[in-house]
Amino acid sequence: MNVKGMTETAKALVANNKGLLAMDESFGTCNKRFARLGIPETADFRCAYREMIVTTEGLNKSISGAILFDETIRQHLKDGTSFIKTLTGKGIIPGIKVDGGTIELAGHPGEKVTQGLDNLRDRLIEYAKMGLKFAKWRAVITIGEGIPTIACIEANAHALARYAALCQEAGLVPIVEPEVLMDGDHSLARCFEVTEQVLHIVFAQLYSQGVVLEAMILKPNMIVPGLDCKIQETVEEVADATVKCLLRTVPAAVPGIAFLSGGQSSELATARLNAMNLRFKSKLPWEVSFSFGRALQEPALDIWHGEESNVPKAQKALFHRATLNAAARRGEYTAEKE
Ligand code: 13P
Repeated sequence: MNVKGMTETAKALVANNKGLLAMDESFGTCNKRFARLGIPETADFRCAYREMIVTTEGLNKSISGAILFDETIRQHLKDGTSFIKTLTGKGIIPGIKVDGGTIELAGHPGEKVTQGLDNLRDRLIEYAKMGLKFAKWRAVITIGEGIPTIACIEANAHALARYAALCQEAGLVPIVEPEVLMDGDHSLARCFEVTEQVLHIVFAQLYSQGVVLEAMILKPNMIVPGLDCKIQETVEEVADATVKCLLRTVPAAVPGIAFLSGGQSSELATARLNAMNLRFKSKLPWEVSFSFGRALQEPALDIWHGEESNVPKAQKALFHRATLNAAARRGEYTAEKE
């Protein structure tokens, strides 16, 4: 196993106050976002959209790596270059989403488990040959009446650990993403309690499967109240709770934590990340970074709208959000910079 190479990649993914750009939406998710804007849900439009993203000038100043979708790595830019080659040429490390999405967990209404372990070894070998350096697997935990159950948490944690071990066998850095969803009216305290339990079980499973912690990145949710909760804590309270939860659960050997945005507004996701780094950066054992999808892309997607003529403006919006999140990694973001 190439532990040294993977450890270097993991470190590089969270180095220099840069972060990850998640552009790995599955067919269903990407099409849903296109449908909202009336953009045709076709392979050509998905390719054009992602070409707009990767050709954004200066993106590499704040983005260290980009997570792609299987369709995208087989597509080409208008000039014939592959997405992997384009990113690598800009010094952005290319990665790939490898999970197969979620299905209902048998016997547990309202809960999901992520699928995709079958044939994963062979797929990872192919991805490594194509030049991809890291992979992502997302598990989803829902908070609700009587859920999550221990069955759901353990099933998802076990799958995450088996995926991570397979990644490292193939030389790819695993991005381990257990997402506790924001949907619902639960409190911040409930999100804390569930996330703490989930992360403990995930790291126990990673240990059981022999995953090298120095050669992985954790991609968790922030500790936030449910979207429908009447009490919405301040940015500082979210930052404090999130750091407290992670200090209790994430071993210091992990080089970096790269948050998902999970449906927070772009501004809020950036402000919360900033508050964590502003208040705690020098005291934390790991880098505290971002791996945002919506919180980086949304403004750019709205402007692009499927029109070639909107590309320069959309790229400006993407560059701006990426720059603001890099500032948040240094604790230097302010609302005035919006
Ligand atoms: P969001 O930041 O939009 O939650 O996406 C991150 C991601 O990669 C989810 O798997």
